[in-house]
Formats: sequence, C-alpha cells, structure tokens
Amino acid sequence: MPGVSFDRAANYYDATRGYTEGVAERIRDALTDHIGATVTTRFLELGVGTGRIALPFIQAGYNYTGIDLSRAMLNVLQTKLRQPGAGVRLRAWLCQADVTDLPFAAATFEVILGVHVLHLVNDWQQALREARRVLHPSGAWMILGYDEGLREPGDLDRSESLPPPLQAQKTWNSILKEMGYGARTGRSRIQISDERLHTHFHELGATTEAVCLTTYARPAISARDVVNRYRERIYSSDWNRPDDIHNEAIRRIERWLATECAAPDEPATEMGQFTVLIAHWD
Ligand SMILES: C[S@@+](CC[C@H](N)C(=O)[O-])C[C@H]1O[C@@H](n2cnc3c(N)ncnc32)[C@H](O)[C@@H]1O
Repeated sequence: MPGVSFDRAANYYDATRGYTEGVAERIRDALTDHIGATVTTRFLELGVGTGRIALPFIQAGYNYTGIDLSRAMLNVLQTKLRQPGAGVRLRAWLCQADVTDLPFAAATFEVILGVHVLHLVNDWQQALREARRVLHPSGAWMILGYDEGLREPGDLDRSESLPPPLQAQKTWNSILKEMGYGARTGRSRIQISDERLHTHFHELGATTEAVCLTTYARPAISARDVVNRYRERIYSSDWNRPDDIHNEAIRRIERWLATECAAPDEPATEMGQFTVLIAHWD
C-alpha cells in the first residue's frame, strides 16, 4: 500500500476531525489571499478525504480537483456535492488515485494542497516529485497544511495543570511509552521534519515560507471522549498496534480515568492553529 487508505474512517471522520463553523472558510480565504488565487486558478488537493478543506473552495466556485486512495472518503465528499445548493459542481473533479502516481499530464495545475497527508505516504519524496511534475513550471504553489495545538511542543510533558482532555492525551502517551510504543502525535507515522521539507523544496528550486493561516477554538471534548476515541481507534496512529497491546493500554487508561482524573466528563476547548508550509516557484 503506497499510503494509508482512510476507508475505515469515512463514516466518523467529519464527526471527529470537523472544524467549528466558519473555520474552513477562513482557511480558504487566508490561503487564496496569500497566494492571489482567482477562479481561473487550477487547484489539486492530494488526499482530499471528505472535503474538510476542499468543500469551501468548491462552494466558492474554484476549479478544484481532489484525489484520494480511499473510495469511501471520496464517496462522503461526493454525497455532500450532490446536496441541493451545495455549490458549483461542474468545477470539482474527484478521482481515486495515489499521490505517488498522479493520473495527470505535466503542468496541469497552478496550486497543489496536501493537508494531513504527506506523513501517511511511504515514498513522500516521490509524492513531491509527482506534485512538481503536474504543477505549472512557473507561478506555481505547493502547500502542505496541518492543524496543530497552540501549545508549544513539550508543554504537555512540562505542564502540571492541564485540562482533563489533555491530561488524557498525556497519560495515553506515557502508557504507550511505558509499553515500548512511540507516543502518538498528529504527524507521527512517518517523521518528516519541517526543516527537511524546506530543504527538499529548495533543492526543487522553490522558495519556502511557514505561515499560520488562522487560529480557532477546537470543538469541546471531555477526557472520557478522548479515551473513547482511543478505545475505538479513531486515529490512524492507533490502527496498526497489535490488539493485545492496544487492549492493555486501554485497560490502563480506563483505570486512570476512573481513579485519577478529577473531571472525566467536563468538556474543555483547546485553541488550535492551521499552519502551512508554502513552496513557490516564480
Ligand atoms: C488524515 S486524512 C486528511 C483528509 C483531508 N486532507 C483533511 O484534511 O481532512 C488523509 C487522507 O489521505 C489519504 N491518503 C493516504 N495516503 C494516500 C496516498 N498515497 N494517495 C492518496 N491519498 C492518500 C487517506 O485515504 C485520507 O483520506
């Protein structure tokens, strides 16, 4: 498998990763302003999923192509596009494809987006070569986006007074570490440092910058909700762990929830930010 197909996540992805109202539109507007996109700009999104990022672009009439390994994720997006009044469908194209072998001719697009996807792709360098091939030789943009917490990396380990959902996350990380498994982070499957990506793009002749496009409040969630998500293996970082390890880790975090967590059912909101690494070819 060239990456991680999200077939199994299609029916819960939006409920667990969705933004609060207006955030996806803010991301679209900040991005299009930053790069000066117009309705004639041709966009390609790698790993478009259920259209969390794509839908506001499509609804605003942008020329938008999305590809994904997962037919089930694409079907969810297709269903949204069929809703009455969902937008300018004729300018959206979806297809099942692998980012390392794009079914497009050279120089087809001016902008390529990839959000929470590159870390899932085994041969990410090949994905970037393919992206460069299908991008226009000049005036082109490649944008890699991630949602991240506003806290500094390491705050989770240092801080003593975290809200209960973050205590659950910290406890889960410690349990997995104790059991000899790497802690989960948002981008953990294949570690690609930002520094490495910048260098890689410079070698491909691009200039790069890192930009925070918006900050936002994440949907409120309790510590119990967090533990339930770990139990149900909602996150792809929990999919491949052997069942016996997973079950033992769950037994330990449920014990923590029952005996040590002060407010297991109290919802809390964290601030998040949507950051992008932008590569530009003049
Ligand atoms: C974490 S989801 C992100 C979806 C969307 N970009 C978003 O931000 O909501 C990652 C998506 O990438 C897709 N994917 C993973 N590896 C891929 C590959 N090699 N080629 C195409 N899509 C891939 C998965 O099926 C999944 O839909």
